[in-house]
Amino acid sequence: MSLLSIRDLRVHIATAVGTVHALNGVNLEVAEREIVGLIGETGAGKSLTAWSVLGLLGGRAEVVAGTAEFDGVDLVSMPERRRRRLRGKDLAVIVQNPRGALDPLRSIGRQIAKVNRRHRGTSRVQAKANAISALRDVGIADPEGRAKAFAHQLSGGMAQRVLIALAMINDPKLIIADEPTTGLDLTVQAQILDLLRAKVDASGSAVLLITHDLGVVANYCDRVSVMFAGRIIEEGTVTQIFKNPRHPYTRALIGASRETLEPDNEVLEVRSEPPNLVDLPDGCHYRPRCPFASDECGQPVPMREGEQGHRTLCHFPEPLRRHDADELKTVERSAP
Ligand SMILES: Nc1ncnc2c1ncn2[C@@H]1O[C@H](COP(=O)(O)OP(=O)(O)OP(=O)(O)O)[C@@H](O)[C@H]1O
Ligand SMILES: [Mg+2]
Repeated sequence: MSLLSIRDLRVHIATAVGTVHALNGVNLEVAEREIVGLIGETGAGKSLTAWSVLGLLGGRAEVVAGTAEFDGVDLVSMPERRRRRLRGKDLAVIVQNPRGALDPLRSIGRQIAKVNRRHRGTSRVQAKANAISALRDVGIADPEGRAKAFAHQLSGGMAQRVLIALAMINDPKLIIADEPTTGLDLTVQAQILDLLRAKVDASGSAVLLITHDLGVVANYCDRVSVMFAGRIIEEGTVTQIFKNPRHPYTRALIGASRETLEPDNEVLEVRSEPPNLVDLPDGCHYRPRCPFASDECGQPVPMREGEQGHRTLCHFPEPLRRHDADELKTVERSAP
């Protein structure tokens, strides 16, 4: 059963140039004991998906439709008071800018202990002990000493680990991590991701992992959702997506790590003009960039089922094998 089930989530942002259609019907499932990777180019809507679920959308961004059921209860329509109680307890978040997320005026040990006391009702002494063991769990040496440090005294890597300790202190059921290891050196990155993986395997919790790093997805995720212009355009297991991507966008994206592809899978070129979210084309949003687009692609796009949970939002999701693609190129070349 799904721990998190996002259904037809739509987010609009009012701007001076018009309404930005940032999320256009996002569907996403995260089950217990799963790490689901959310990938896609910059501006695809990955962070907005996370913020919508957490109830942390700011400014003029607004959820205009859809639900996000967490443990069977819709987070979108839930009063903020209730959502706040969930955040930091069953629902935790790890963000990109760790220092900005830490309280500059309180030692990190006290911050972690406070969250533990507030949500779990632990005694002062127990919460302090829990905070120190949480710091130890994220690989911080001398956790007793470090607990007394303040945010500004920490390196970026250290601050990120503290944030993870903070996210994990109350044994959350779901952790939403938005680029949790970006900017960290590879050793620390691996350490933190190993920790997340171990946590998920041991406790049955789950992680929604937003990242640009396909290597991280391949190594740490169970399933992947690929986002483009505010929709999930393909989803499947890591093996399905990396070995046999079916959407032309995914095929271009995965082409960067082409050694994972089945040998006869044609690598497509990545074209990078971002879509105009104020004025999206009808039908497939990828149409203007797609080398295979035809008239039919202007019609509403069906989510097509492939093998076992491999789904592709495309009129023509069959992987074009190398000879098909060569034929297509020949046609293009000979066109006037
Ligand atoms: N306050 C805002 N005003 C106008 N547009 C916004 C605002 N916040 C987000 N957007 C737009 O919404 C879209 C989705 O943004 P989002 O931050 O979710 O992208 P992302 O997939 O997380 O990208 P990245 O990989 O760069 O973090 C982008 O096109 C962005 O420009
Ligand atoms: Mg983002």
